[in-house]
Amino acid sequence: MNIKSVDEFKRKINKIVISEEEIKTAIDRAGEFINSIYDGTPILLVSILKGSFVFLADLCRRVNVPCEIAFMVAKSYYQGTESSGVVKISMDVGHDLGRYHVIIIEDIIDTGRTLTDVVKLLRARNPVSLRVVTLLDKPDRRIVDFKADYTLFTIPDLFVVGYGLDCGEYYRNLPYIAEIKE
Ligand code: IMP
Ligand code: MG
Repeated sequence: MNIKSVDEFKRKINKIVISEEEIKTAIDRAGEFINSIYDGTPILLVSILKGSFVFLADLCRRVNVPCEIAFMVAKSYYQGTESSGVVKISMDVGHDLGRYHVIIIEDIIDTGRTLTDVVKLLRARNPVSLRVVTLLDKPDRRIVDFKADYTLFTIPDLFVVGYGLDCGEYYRNLPYIAEIKE
């Protein structure tokens, strides 16, 4: 995407799908979900970059139990219509997962392929437990059956941006989630 003016940047935003206020309320509740998991074993929040960085920043400030933060850059590659691919990790978690309740923090589940592969990879490292918290879910787009443990918003099949999510690297900085005109 090549945006050349502020006017064009604004014109491409079709409509707000989830407001700042709605996000804030949902994050308070998601924080309580994470707090309820704590049982004396530390929690490790694993943010899948880049899309989940804003979500992680707000969510981790609603967590009031011992917790650490890690980042991971993972991309899955597929041949044709295969339901599982090869995950390429360009930045990995440095922690020994065997010591933690691991919670993957994701921006959006679309086909389900990325998380299916990331979960398989992290589960093989024997975490005390493994859960997935996602900001958004588009179940209508699923190719691989995948269900998160906690979903803040389920949305229809729209391409959305903002609050960390991008279109051609733009719009991650919007404080709300909006549909984009492509
Ligand atoms: P999937 O579930 O493996 O198909 O991949 C999900 C990834 O695709 C997300 O982590 C996003 O990076 C990207 N993605 C899917 N839908 C959207 C959208 O509506 N807006 C922005 N990024 C999206
Ligand atoms: Mg992502």
